[in-house]
Amino acid sequence: MLAGLVLLEALSIGLFGALLIRQQVNEVRERSQRRLAYEAESLALQAQQAILQERPGWVGLSVQMMGEGPTVALAKVTDPAGNVLFVSKGEADQAPLQPAELAQIPQVRAQESKFLVLQGNRWECVHAIYTGGDLRGFAWVEFDPRWAREQFNSILSDTVIFGVIWIVASALLVLLMARSISAPLATLHRGTRALMSSPEHSGNFPLPVAVHNEIGDLVDAFNRMVASIAEQRSGLNDTLSLLDSMLANAPIGLAFFDRRCRFVRVNQVFADMTGVSLSRHLGRTLPELLPQPVAQELENTVLRVFAEEEPVRNLELTNPVPSAQDGNPERQWTWLASAYPVRTTPQQVRWVGVIVLDASERKRSEEALRKTEKLAATGRLAASIAHEINNPLEAITNLLFLLRNYCGLDDSALNYVAMAEHEAKRIAEITQQTLRFYRQSTLPTRANMGELLDSVLSLYQGRLNTLNIQVQRDYDAEMDLFCFAGELRQVFANLVSNAIDASSAGGRLLVRARRSRNWNDPAQTGVRFTLADAGTGMEPAVRERVFEAFFTTKEVTGTGLGLWVSHEIILKHRGLVHVRSRTAREGKTSGTVFELFIPDDLNLAAPAKQTAAAV
Ligand SMILES: Nc1ncnc2c1ncn2[C@@H]1O[C@H](COP(=O)(O)OP(=O)(O)OP(=O)(O)O)[C@@H](O)[C@H]1O
Ligand SMILES: [Mg+2]
Repeated sequence: MLAGLVLLEALSIGLFGALLIRQQVNEVRERSQRRLAYEAESLALQAQQAILQERPGWVGLSVQMMGEGPTVALAKVTDPAGNVLFVSKGEADQAPLQPAELAQIPQVRAQESKFLVLQGNRWECVHAIYTGGDLRGFAWVEFDPRWAREQFNSILSDTVIFGVIWIVASALLVLLMARSISAPLATLHRGTRALMSSPEHSGNFPLPVAVHNEIGDLVDAFNRMVASIAEQRSGLNDTLSLLDSMLANAPIGLAFFDRRCRFVRVNQVFADMTGVSLSRHLGRTLPELLPQPVAQELENTVLRVFAEEEPVRNLELTNPVPSAQDGNPERQWTWLASAYPVRTTPQQVRWVGVIVLDASERKRSEEALRKTEKLAATGRLAASIAHEINNPLEAITNLLFLLRNYCGLDDSALNYVAMAEHEAKRIAEITQQTLRFYRQSTLPTRANMGELLDSVLSLYQGRLNTLNIQVQRDYDAEMDLFCFAGELRQVFANLVSNAIDASSAGGRLLVRARRSRNWNDPAQTGVRFTLADAGTGMEPAVRERVFEAFFTTKEVTGTGLGLWVSHEIILKHRGLVHVRSRTAREGKTSGTVFELFIPDDLNLAAPAKQTAAAV
């Protein structure tokens, strides 16, 4: 811009100088012509005076003097016919008039100088010499071009000097203007570009306010605007970081979808739930990441929210087919999902947000509870049936007794009666056990452990027989213990059931009970129970988790609650449990041993203290 201004200035000055020179040249020419006319007239007058005074020598003198004038190149006087009489330089007879000069003679009027241009652009003026009305000759004066050239040079140099001074002064002025306008504007321009290329970095700001004029005010206003934007951005960033941390750390799965049902954002919990890394979600659709029909159901819900712009709440999504792939069993899961519209303006739904809760655990608890409830109901039903069977059974037993003592029976009939009595006794035993099993007291009592263990084993007698498992009973039939007998029975039932599950045909089961002391606190007496099987045993990873609720390796057949409940019951008795197990590796025998210590604690009825159980 600066260079442009200087160039424009130089052009203007050049044009102005050219016009000025032209005008001056014209003026010099006019002045020269006037002067030439005056000099020719003056020479004619001097010649006229000399003739009148009859002193022809003065004519020659006047010609000489005229010829020495600064503007005169040559002066001469001729007679009316054009013959040269006097000449300022050289001899008169050697400087005759040229034909062009001779041709002018007839046109020369009295009292008037005649201007003529000769060959080679020489100027000349001629004036007639009259005395009393007689033409006596002509005075010729030729202009000296050197004078005009000097004049022209002087005008030119004056103009050039003036022009240079003007341009330098203008350039200085423009420089000053540039300092006060262009420089701040250039700084502003640079700052704006830097801000546009990286809006996050406002490091160049505030821009320096070097001038105090409108431009300075503009820069200042711009600085304030950038500062205010930076402040707003930092506020926005704070809000975004807040939202980001909420999204990342919320204990629920969050996912956002665009109108084409593609993931635009998910949090870590959601990624953990789908089992796909966080970054792999972005841009993908639900069927690409989730199994059917869950993917389709969720996609339909998202599309419905886009269409109706209303939230959908508590949608239960269940992955119904537990499949075993690559030896890694995929567990059935249940999600509770809610979808809601996300609006960027009141009119437009831009995304749909989905909140997902993993309800698998809850679902499993509900299932287990239902199962337990069913078992309890079945127990109650069995007890009431057993109770109802008892009355007719007693009648049958009495009738069989009477029948046996009836005299008319032969031996084979008596044998049948004995068999019927035996079976009736078995029915009575079964009903007794069923009733005993269900009738759990809510208060601790002193119970016979031999009887309790017998009842548990006879409950599983059917399965034990089927698998031909040898049971070794090693306990005193009279041993008793102050405990919640019903609950303790449940513990042994769980342990025996697990042992049978782990055993193959022809296995062994040891059930032992001994008066003993707490292995952590020898002052405390109680009963140590040992249940050892020769089953499959457990890997260390399984053994560590056996007391966790819902931990099972039995997939569909197991709830994983047996040992968890047993552990709770042992804790309730302030007892201890210890498990050892080994799988069949390197030809060694496998099996599992559960050891329980239940203190013979008369204070059981008091509120339970927290007692550690060694696992
Ligand atoms: N005697 C045992 N031998 C081998 N593994 C066992 C034994 N006892 C328990 N386990 C392992 O511990 C897991 C948890 O047992 P737990 O009794 O709590 O649940 P479950 O038997 O699987 O199911 P449920 O008892 O509810 O039917 C079992 O799945 C099994 O893997
Ligand atoms: Mg079990």
